[in-house]
Amino acid sequence: MMEEQIQYTGKATMEKITSLAKRRGFVFQSSEIYGGQNGAWDYGPLGIELKNRLSQAWWKEMTQLHDDIVGLDAAILMHPRTWEASGHVENFTDPLVDCKKCKSRFRADQIPEKNVNEKICPDCGGELTDVRKFNLMFKTQIGAAEDTANLIYLRPETAQGIYVNYKNVVQSSRMKIPFGIAQIGKAFRNEIVTRNFIFRTCEFEQMEMQFFVKPGTDEEWYNEWRKRRWAYYEKLGLKMDHFRWRQHQKDEMAHYAKDAWDIEYLFPMGWRELEGIHNRTDYDLNRHSEYSGKDMQYIDQESNERFIPYIVETSAGLTRNLLMALCDAYDEEEVENETRTVMRFHPLIAPITVAVLPLMKKDGLAELAQDIRKELMADFATDYDHGGAIGRRYRRQDEAGTPFCITIDYETKEDHSVTLRYRDSMEQIRIPRAELTEYIRKAIKEYKRQ
Ligand code: GAP
Repeated sequence: MMEEQIQYTGKATMEKITSLAKRRGFVFQSSEIYGGQNGAWDYGPLGIELKNRLSQAWWKEMTQLHDDIVGLDAAILMHPRTWEASGHVENFTDPLVDCKKCKSRFRADQIPEKNVNEKICPDCGGELTDVRKFNLMFKTQIGAAEDTANLIYLRPETAQGIYVNYKNVVQSSRMKIPFGIAQIGKAFRNEIVTRNFIFRTCEFEQMEMQFFVKPGTDEEWYNEWRKRRWAYYEKLGLKMDHFRWRQHQKDEMAHYAKDAWDIEYLFPMGWRELEGIHNRTDYDLNRHSEYSGKDMQYIDQESNERFIPYIVETSAGLTRNLLMALCDAYDEEEVENETRTVMRFHPLIAPITVAVLPLMKKDGLAELAQDIRKELMADFATDYDHGGAIGRRYRRQDEAGTPFCITIDYETKEDHSVTLRYRDSMEQIRIPRAELTEYIRKAIKEYKRQ
């Protein structure tokens, strides 16, 4: 865990990532045919696979591998009192300034202080408005009548769905403190500035885990969860010198936090928050107790002690993790006088694990390849491609990040052997068809990034 300052030396740029994402079907602009919708993105065939792999990896890590964490899927629409209790109605604001001349909108904390103080637009030099607080929650109405009585918010974080259900979970699943509740789901924020592709968007997904502990043990658990979350990213085979910790200063801490550390990632545009780990104390449960009138105390069955639990939160952006995974995997190298673009995803998160490619379409090779693909389908995410020269097809799979390609040729018909080509080294080996599944399984398990 370090505070190392390194400069970005990766091959990715945001332009290259955005262009590859569109070209290969990872991410598309929302409603593109109408000129696009700011702050919203669509995930294409490869993108949804990558997103699913990332959420499955997180879910496995946070639930299956812990006997003291259970899952939940709460509704996006919650009773509006939830957001009064949580403090979001009052505090979930960004400082906003507008340019009276060019109509640009800025977050006052993201432009030079001099511009804010002297009210000068950093883009056109026009006059800026006074700074005003802008609440990031999207408001809408529920029901037929459009009046304030029907006001409802789109949740700006998934966490509150867990807090309001914590007693239901204790009662129904007999969880005993310390224990956690994990959830993955959409969140919405009316961000003033959406920039850098899918980094900061108005609609996004979060992977959050709330760990309920006895007051007084919170700092110990907080440190434990910081360690665990760091170890998680190590397991995904990412470039760990692109990760660092950053502690929030008192004046930037969220209204609920006693301590907050971000895991930051070195994106092409610089170090940015990837995940936040927060000690939220008993703030949220106390507030829900106060606003709902319901007792949110936990009763220890053995000691009969009653207390409002403290909460340690780990909160990662799923869509932001996807951007991180794209940037982390992106590589270019010179091969035979041309640039090979290769996405070096860990096989556990690669959208396609195995591609099956017949050398030729004719002489029954295509049918044989389809047969082999069918065999592999039950165990792996597969693709099949018979279009164009084999070298071109390898390059296409490299761009999709497919770690293994299986090539079927005339020898396959004779001796039932196939060629397995590794994405990273481009090494090719010959193996018996009957051993393919076991071979690939082992290669995934033993995968080490080069
Ligand atoms: N429940 C705590 C919470 O929401 P946060 O630091 O505001 O904390 C947690 O958000 C994570 O959610 C961030 O680290 C980031 O990965 C992701 N996130 C937040 N706002 C986002 C946005 N506008 N677009 C994409 N991801 C976002």
